[in-house]
Amino acid sequence: MIKRFSVITPKPYTARRLVEEVERSFAAHDLHYGHGTDNPRDEAVYLVFCALGIAFDCPEQDLDAEVGREAAARVFDLARKRVEDRTPIAYLVNQAWFCGLPFHVDERVLIPRSPLAESIENRFAPWLDADRVSSILDIGTGSACIAVACALAFPEARVDAVDISAEALVVAHGNVERHGLAERIRLIKSDLYENLGDRKYDLIVANPPYVTAREMRELPPEHRHEPALALAAGSDGLDVVRRLLAESGRHLRPDGILVVEVGNGRESVDKTFPSLPFVWLDFEYGGEGVFLLEARSLKMS
Ligand SMILES: C[S@@+](CC[C@H](N)C(=O)[O-])C[C@H]1O[C@@H](n2cnc3c(N)ncnc32)[C@H](O)[C@@H]1O
Repeated sequence: MIKRFSVITPKPYTARRLVEEVERSFAAHDLHYGHGTDNPRDEAVYLVFCALGIAFDCPEQDLDAEVGREAAARVFDLARKRVEDRTPIAYLVNQAWFCGLPFHVDERVLIPRSPLAESIENRFAPWLDADRVSSILDIGTGSACIAVACALAFPEARVDAVDISAEALVVAHGNVERHGLAERIRLIKSDLYENLGDRKYDLIVANPPYVTAREMRELPPEHRHEPALALAAGSDGLDVVRRLLAESGRHLRPDGILVVEVGNGRESVDKTFPSLPFVWLDFEYGGEGVFLLEARSLKMS
């Protein structure tokens, strides 16, 4: 009689199993979550789905399809980099989402996460009459996420998007092309308004650097992968905001608005500029630290 040997083959990988293993690995390490997720599970899902090219709304059964060994190895390699180098996943998979839109990101630009997304989706109601908005300026455009989202939210408007970083503008250019908006978005290398002449806008929106020197020293390793130029703003975090407040009045149309994210800086902004009537925006989906000023209050300042 021929003896039969049972050969034990390893269980095949599936996306579901990969998510579980990557989540376990993330949970076992002291990672910082601040780039779109806030827990190891969501972080693992983002990594596995992006690495395998799975759509976030895929049918449940797709998660149980077998994943080849090479693809699984790629996932584990990315997970290892996330843990060992503390690299944010968006940089590992070169993809981040903003206003439901995908953007290429790498270490030349900040990873999009601004609560301004919600204001853009609401077309800055009730502060702007959206149908009358014809010119928008995005200051510190980085990946161009705000410029692209604004161009899509205000289809009649032209958008100028400036950044002081030539490297960031290369990334921005790719994203503007990707979204087919090269006709309506002009990318300009400029230190705030320096290269804009006397152009005026209905909406000026900015997510400038606003991290204080002390916060910079205490940044979690994940944030050290982001360009310091996108974060650091002097001892009180207001170096760029101060200049924006001084210079924006000249570039707003009479009914225009200035909207600026300052993160944790709300208290120091209120304290430093007590005469300005800041409106601090509320966000249904989380986030804070965004002020709005109407042109007329800036003209008075
Ligand atoms: C916090 S990041 C915002 C990027 C992008 N708008 C976003 O929301 O993801 C700030 C950006 O401002 C740019 N920046 C810093 N100082 C600037 C200046 N003086 N003039 C123009 N851009 C500046 C940085 O290069 C960086 O891309």
